[in-house]
Amino acid sequence: MSQYQTLETSIMADIAASTDEASIEAVRVAALGKKGSVSELLKGLGKMSAEERQDAGPAINGLKTRVADAIAARKAELHDAAITERLARESVDVSLPVRSSPAERGRIHPISQIVDEITAIFADMGFSIAEGPDIETDYYNFTALNFPDGHPAREMHDTFFLQPDETGERKVLRTHTSPVQIRTMEGQKPPIRIVIPGKTYRQDSDATHSPMFHQVEGLVIDKTATVGHLRWVLEEFCKAFFEVDNVVMRFRPSFFPFTEPSFEVDIQCDRTSGPIVKFGEGTDWMEILGCGMVHPNVLRAGGLDPDEYQGFAWGMGLDRIAMLKYGMPDLRDFFNADVRWLSHYGFRPLDMPTLFGGLST
Ligand code: DAH
Repeated sequence: MSQYQTLETSIMADIAASTDEASIEAVRVAALGKKGSVSELLKGLGKMSAEERQDAGPAINGLKTRVADAIAARKAELHDAAITERLARESVDVSLPVRSSPAERGRIHPISQIVDEITAIFADMGFSIAEGPDIETDYYNFTALNFPDGHPAREMHDTFFLQPDETGERKVLRTHTSPVQIRTMEGQKPPIRIVIPGKTYRQDSDATHSPMFHQVEGLVIDKTATVGHLRWVLEEFCKAFFEVDNVVMRFRPSFFPFTEPSFEVDIQCDRTSGPIVKFGEGTDWMEILGCGMVHPNVLRAGGLDPDEYQGFAWGMGLDRIAMLKYGMPDLRDFFNADVRWLSHYGFRPLDMPTLFGGLST
């Protein structure tokens, strides 16, 4: 076998043995590249005599052509194989279900839902929404609401106090939404009909108390507002909120510095079936809110003449009524930011609560 045939056999074997595009390229460089074995033979032709060249020329050129053709053919083969393999690997199963959109997966927190429900109910009765700051002065949180200095009711609120500021004043994290009553009276002439949802703070923490919690307050000031109106408003609210045709309420005498007379309101219910309490039926009573006729001193603090105006107010814990309505057993879960809890108890973002479309359905 001539040296050309030996070389050809060995290159052809390398071509056959190449398994991917990189290895066939390596074979090409080794044979036909600048310093490749075949290229070196071609370069050698120049140094040969004319006779030697007569035989060697066609032999080497023939070798080069066959090697180049074989490499090109193998390259095309390996290229096709690579594409076929990639198509198989990257294939998409078009029958898979589509991933749901963020609007489908996102959830509204039950507190936001409850605020929207309450807003829808009271807006329908002609109320507007009022808000105030979480960081309050002692004056708005207590004094203007007829808590005298040193009055024990101040201690009952388990207040968070801030460090004294440059004037020595100690602000508080508001312990209730009632300070917004005063802020509203200061800024608005009666008739006033507002509800005040918002965050409130007290040093308290267990399964049904959190140091940050939510209340909704209501205030009506007019020349003729009475306990009868108060009762009607609360009954209408409870029927709409708990989505029942009938509720039975019980007003018990109570004490709040900012109302006189003051009441605690119980609602008749059935607690026999677990964490979801049924309203409008049953033989149990559950306390759901505090209320009363606005104290004359509070009207005065709000800049109103108690001989001309009177009004009623109420306040209730939002978190608690959310737990009651939706059967959530532990308040602390509300604030744990656990996506699993939220996807279970949360509400679909585009199902806005309305009285005509349904509050929670
Ligand atoms: N502020 C009271 C509390 O946090 C709740 C309350 C009771 C508000 C009676 C009122 C009311 O407006 O009239 O315990």
